[in-house]
Amino acid sequence: MAANETINEVIDVERDGEIALIRIDNPPVNAAGLKVREGLVAAIDALEADQDVRAIGLYGAGRTFIAGADIREFGKPPVEPWLPDVVNRIEACAKPVVVALHGTALGGGFEVALAAHYRIGVPGLRVGLPEVNLGIIPGAGGTQRAPRLAGMHMALDMITSGRHVPAEEALGAGLIDEIREGEPREIALAGAREALESRIETRRTGDLTVERDEAALAEYREKMAKQAPRLFSPHKCVDAVEGAVKPIAEGMAHERALYRECQESPQRAGLVHAFFAERAVAKFPEQDAQPRELNKIGVIGGGTMGSGIATACLLAGYAVTLVEVSPDALERGLATVTKNLDGAVKRGKLDAAGREATLARLDSATEIEALSAADLVIEAVFEDMGVKKEIFGKLDATLAPGAIMATNTSYLDVNEIAAATSRPEAVIGLHFFSPAHVMKLVEIVVADHTAPEAVATGFALAKKLRKIGVRSGVCDGFIGNRIMQHYRKAADYMLLDGAHFADIDRALEDFGFAMGPFRVSDLAGLDIGWTYRKRHADTRPAEERYVRIADRICEEGMFGRKTGRGFYLYGEGESGPNPAAEAIVESERAAAGVTPRGFSDEEIVARYMTAMITEAARVVEEGIAQRPIDVDAVLLFGYGFPRFRGGPLHYADQIGLPEVIARIETYAQEDAHYWQVPGLLRRLADEGKSFADLNP
Ligand code: 3HC
Repeated sequence: MAANETINEVIDVERDGEIALIRIDNPPVNAAGLKVREGLVAAIDALEADQDVRAIGLYGAGRTFIAGADIREFGKPPVEPWLPDVVNRIEACAKPVVVALHGTALGGGFEVALAAHYRIGVPGLRVGLPEVNLGIIPGAGGTQRAPRLAGMHMALDMITSGRHVPAEEALGAGLIDEIREGEPREIALAGAREALESRIETRRTGDLTVERDEAALAEYREKMAKQAPRLFSPHKCVDAVEGAVKPIAEGMAHERALYRECQESPQRAGLVHAFFAERAVAKFPEQDAQPRELNKIGVIGGGTMGSGIATACLLAGYAVTLVEVSPDALERGLATVTKNLDGAVKRGKLDAAGREATLARLDSATEIEALSAADLVIEAVFEDMGVKKEIFGKLDATLAPGAIMATNTSYLDVNEIAAATSRPEAVIGLHFFSPAHVMKLVEIVVADHTAPEAVATGFALAKKLRKIGVRSGVCDGFIGNRIMQHYRKAADYMLLDGAHFADIDRALEDFGFAMGPFRVSDLAGLDIGWTYRKRHADTRPAEERYVRIADRICEEGMFGRKTGRGFYLYGEGESGPNPAAEAIVESERAAAGVTPRGFSDEEIVARYMTAMITEAARVVEEGIAQRPIDVDAVLLFGYGFPRFRGGPLHYADQIGLPEVIARIETYAQEDAHYWQVPGLLRRLADEGKSFADLNP
């Protein structure tokens, strides 16, 4: 073999005497796609045959070692060489292979490392087998080699949780052999030389044996049954690890069969879609604009939302000034922030010193003028256009040029709010979800005159807060609440027509939602929807069927969890359906002249999901959401949509658009106002396309 050689676009080999160094260079994360797999096999074949080479070092260029198989290849026909063959080729190599690991060695990347004969981690390395998060199991020997090195219990822990294991812990568990400071190339070179000179002890992981750990297997079977009853792959992870007691070839064949089953599962498709959704939303038209540097953030409003937003900003390291109208309200807001931080301490997210340092960045005032030095102000007062306009007028008079003014409104027109200022380009919507220091989603609402820099700042803030920002246009409720307002009605119609609210909740929870719609309303406070409906009473179309049940529950002062009564009763926890709510349902049915009928779980899910898909399609059609995948992200990260189903429009693709249309047309026979086929849905179906065709 020639001195230095490029094997292909992503693999090259460098020679240093009797040492050969294989470098993987496949940005951004060195994913083990076809070229990497081909290149690794070709390099090992060539170096094994080369008499002048006696030891091999392997490392990754750029920010990380291999971060896994190439997820973009999933769902396509697999092309050889497959990753299990690649790792077996590395392990079988007659010459010692030493690998230097930096960044993240995940999934297939860690499986490559496990097949090398000696593993050196660079400080900061994290290793892991996160396949379970994508609805699959490690499919290139991970379930076989991890237990050989670390025992069944540790392997089960890693593989069923998908967690990233820090270098020190990996070393302690025997998953890597050493931690060493330095550059990956230098470490791989030195390691290979030490192997050649027998200064380190190399071995083949596949030659080791695993002791069956009955207790660990039972523990994880039970844990998965409890934690992931609806998921497919976590249980297969345990099955695969159990197979590690067999000789490696047999165990890997078993693993392969289970892996293929998972690859075929719709859960895999949903989870991979969710993975890409999380990343796709970070691409938006204004992304090249320069975000404003945020040194000081102001938050106006110390209620649940405002103090949650203040907490989130503080936890991300910002200096925050909280503003409330009166000293009392301010006191309450500050107490909520402190309580939130105490919660973070309890959850292990913050230590006592961190809590003090965080609180030291919190300032407070009762006058908006105190925000004159703020770079960004987020208004989170109650939903009243008049009040908001007044606040924005004052902000306009107070803030320095270039500062950004954001409203956390859930429904109100951001254009109208912006018009209350002399600089509408500085106004944006930042719609957080409650509790704001916990929930991942932020809708970044771009109004007609919002400047690109303000949009870029919104996204930069979301990233710093470790949240998922999704760009939305202006409409009533933006992406998420607008869709929710629509599908929520489908649940009310089923309730009026004969389904019990507890059955609707259960059917949707069985489908995978974190909570059914009536439980969600009780948690959020029934008065919130009531206020919204009252505000919209004048503009409600005459043809719209209106269900008064929730209004009547509110009229009796029952607002859900916070008043101990709503659709359900609450004491320590939930203690069953509220008989008073059931009585209201009965009387409303009688008043509407409805003869109640039964609804199967299947019909409940079908109607609810069809309603959701319908409004979601309109939101895309009108350009409120950039793409279908943005809508999926909003529902996944803000509304408890089951991740393994990928989001409503991914789900629509899975059931097929002609089927969705057929359902709408069937339901329209009872209510042609509510059930209408959106133009976009019809067009895609006519063209034989799916929502995925509109995604990047
Ligand atoms: N395949 C293809 N693309 C990948 C990828 C992968 N395994 N991992 C990351 N990417 C892409 C991302 O989509 C993103 O692309 P974009 O810039 O076009 O949006 C880009 O790489 C950078 O990723 P992140 O934005 O996530 O970068 P971070 O630095 O925040 O995170 C990471 C890096 C921790 C490696 C994170 O990307 C990650 O967790 N990746 C997935 C790891 C994983 O699940 N590996 C297992 C894969 S399955 C497998 O290996 C099967 C095997 O057992 C047979």
